[in-house]
Amino acid sequence: NKGTYKHYMQKEIHEQPESLTTTLRGRLLRGGSWKAKTVLLGGLKDHLKTIRRSRRIVFIGCGTSYNAALAARPIMEELSGVPVTMEIASDLLDRQGLIYREDTVVFVSQSGETADTLLALEYALENGALCVGITNTVGSVIARNTHCGVHINAGCEIGVASTKAYTSQIAVMAMLALAIGADTISKQERREAIIDGLFDLPNKIREVLKLDQEMKDLAKLLIAEQSLLVFGRGYNYATALEGALKVKEVALMHSEGILAGEMKHGPLALVDENLPIVVIATRDACFRLVWFLRNYVILLLSTAWHRHLLISNSKQQSVIQQLRARKGRLIVMCSKGDAASVCPGGGCRVIEVPQVEDCLQPVVNIVPFQLLAYHLTVLRGYNVDQPRNLAKSVTTQ
Ligand code: UD1
Ligand code: F6R
Repeated sequence: NKGTYKHYMQKEIHEQPESLTTTLRGRLLRGGSWKAKTVLLGGLKDHLKTIRRSRRIVFIGCGTSYNAALAARPIMEELSGVPVTMEIASDLLDRQGLIYREDTVVFVSQSGETADTLLALEYALENGALCVGITNTVGSVIARNTHCGVHINAGCEIGVASTKAYTSQIAVMAMLALAIGADTISKQERREAIIDGLFDLPNKIREVLKLDQEMKDLAKLLIAEQSLLVFGRGYNYATALEGALKVKEVALMHSEGILAGEMKHGPLALVDENLPIVVIATRDACFRLVWFLRNYVILLLSTAWHRHLLISNSKQQSVIQQLRARKGRLIVMCSKGDAASVCPGGGCRVIEVPQVEDCLQPVVNIVPFQLLAYHLTVLRGYNVDQPRNLAKSVTTQ
């Protein structure tokens, strides 16, 4: 039932405040003043010790589910202290890549039925790894055949393009990182900030959904384009890939997500005054403090983590400068209030989004791309819910 919406994709984009609320329900515990804030993932509590002791955490998925895992990778590494590697399911199988008994392998799948992901699961089980599922479908093959896991509880997703499952998958993987890292005392403050951020996430999504009309206007501008590039880095490299995937699969427009650090190694050659380029340059939470103080002594005294964030953000500013120097047609996604500083002198189109805890920023940042892809598709007259040649669940190899 689409209710008041014209398409399932539109409905699923707009119901993300609710789907995220259900994903988080009962899993975030905010104790009294003397009690620490914690995360409870019922399906994992007996396996956390094994996961903490593992030699690697390997994320496996396809398409949007892979992108969600990529978005969660930095926070998983930071909080767990365990190296995290990424595998596209089909590529792991093609290579017969190495999976060890000491690995924890996390299978991310909305449907829980994707053939490549299922085969990768069989392969990891044969190799003796602990297999964890992150699925939306209770009773699906992946949910049944993994040793343990978490249901994302995003509700049934009908549009072929995955939207609400993506944001819930990232939220679940952030909670997974919090649960795995829960015994590291030095990170308690950071964990609590993320838990507060998760509590507030549905409100922030409500806020970013107000960009609907702005994204429709942008879609009108882009309607006749052949191609769209999306540059992102750090927490938002995944946003670039997933934003481009949405535009590609439903609006049938060529679109490419590019790791901004790779710009000079090839993609820069494409830049001219015609090709539209989106640059994701939202602030990381800790950076704001350093930025306002503009005090390099403080920068020198700050922790390695703060420095890393400052560097990552200023790198994105330099990407913008270099693209502008080549007369690139820029659309910059930045944090609220930053329009003037990300694009001094004007000349870029700016999308301002609410700022959240850095590792949750990809959940907010993907929403304008979902809206853009949706409106582009409708304006171009294509089928939104059933894109050409695609199926919701890819059950064959
Ligand atoms: C569970 C109940 C939920 C109930 C809650 C109350 C189910 C499906 N969930 O939620 O209805 O409100 O307890 O405490 O009955 N699993 C896998 N692989 C996967 C996903 C899940 O093995 O890919 C396993 C988990 O390890 C767990 C079970 O399935 O044993 C249920 O997982 P999940 O729904 O995430 O657990 P809870 O959130 O505790
Ligand atoms: C894109 C999309 C696909 C799926 C992929 C994996 O919008 O829906 O890329 O994400 O086919 O599907 P699941 O998550 O069901 O394993």
